[in-house]
This record gives sequence, C-alpha cells and structure tokens, in this order.
Amino acid sequence: MTHQDELKKLVGEEAVKFIKDGMVVGLGTGSTVRFMVDALGKRVKDEGLSIVGVPTSERTKKQANDLGIETKGVDEVDHIDLTIDGADQIDPNFQGIKGGGGAHLWEKIVAINSEKNMWIVDESKMADQLGSFPLPLEVIPYGSKQLFKRLEIGGYHPKFRMKNNHYVMTDSNNYIIDLHMSKINNSQKVAASLDHMTGVVEHGLFLDIVNTVIVGRETGPEILHA
Ligand code: A5P
Repeated sequence: MTHQDELKKLVGEEAVKFIKDGMVVGLGTGSTVRFMVDALGKRVKDEGLSIVGVPTSERTKKQANDLGIETKGVDEVDHIDLTIDGADQIDPNFQGIKGGGGAHLWEKIVAINSEKNMWIVDESKMADQLGSFPLPLEVIPYGSKQLFKRLEIGGYHPKFRMKNNHYVMTDSNNYIIDLHMSKINNSQKVAASLDHMTGVVEHGLFLDIVNTVIVGRETGPEILHA
C-alpha cells in the first residue's frame, strides 16, 4: 500500500466512527471512499450495525452489497442523515472540486439531499486555490462537440475524458469534459456560468455543501468543521 493509500485508509476508518445504528448514509465514490466502505462493511458484520447506504455510483453499490451493506436508491429513502464522500481538491473556504472519478452528478444529487456532508481526503487534496485539478463536467452526448467549441471560445480549456480511444461514459450514459483552467478565481461565478450552459448536466464545483472534512495527515486524522 502506498503512503497516500495509508492516509486514505486512515480517514476512511475515522469517518465510519460517525455512523450510528439506524442511519441512512450516503456512500460516495472513489479510492478513499473504497476504504470507508470496507470499514463500514466490517462494522456491519462485526457489530450487527443496521444502516441503509445510498450509493453514488454503480461501483460503490456493488462494493457495499458485496460486503453485506443494504443499499437503496436516492428516490427510495425519505431522508439521508449523513453522506461521506471523497474530494479532488478543497480550498481554505471548504469549497471543493469533485468528479475525478466521473461520479459527481450522482454525488451532488445525494449530497444536496443529505442533512450533513463529510469529505474524507489525504492532505494532498487541500489547496490554497481551486483549479489546478481539472474541473469535470458531465455533458449530454448530443451536441457535445458544439458545447466543446463554446467552452473553448469561453476560455475554459476543455478536454473530453477518453479511455482507450473511447469517450468515458458516466453511470447516466453521459460524457465527461474536463476543464483545465489552472486557477479558478471566482468559483461562484464559474459555477453560475456553467449552470446556465445548455448540454451541461452538472459540473464538479461543490460549493457550500460540506459540513465536516477529515484530512489524513502524517500526525493522524484532522477533523475540520466548515
Ligand atoms: C468521484 O467522481 C469523485 O468525486 C471522487 O469522490 C473524488 O474524485 C475523490 O476520489 P479519490 O478518493 O479516488 O481521490
């Protein structure tokens, strides 16, 4: 296991301590969340913890079910107590970029329907400013090349996300365009512009959403409240 993975595991294990019997828990997506779901599966098995997970991707759903964690879709629950998710970059004001794993649409839907949101990250994700991590957009395939041109003209430095010469597809069968903007000076303004672009289903700016961040540091997990 790499050192970074050790920090991811540390925060994943710390996060599950916040889960109590009977909770409905949003389960994020990504390599950090994978450790959290493993730790949650262990609590379900060892302690008989009774929880319902609301997964934010097919990957997470499969992992949870394989570990014996009951899951329901976001439309099958009447509330979500807490969502635990990873993040790609977090600034000092607790604004974040997500979607490096291409799951930010479902993640945002689950997040905005959760009473509380917690992000778990290794310390490399904490940044003075957002933008050095490319900002993901989930876009409708229809008209996406025209949308791409509009993004280029707008100075967003777009790139389609590809794998083995194929467009990466999301769980909702959409494409991903990553915006290589280097620096995002006004995240509220960028988010508002992207919110109004036809063909963009959702962008990866998660603004004013998170309540608690657990950062994996050399010295141990650090819990920050937004
Ligand atoms: C999934 O689309 C993302 O939002 C992830 O939550 C985020 O990219 C963090 O992933 P890692 O834990 O793998 O870095």
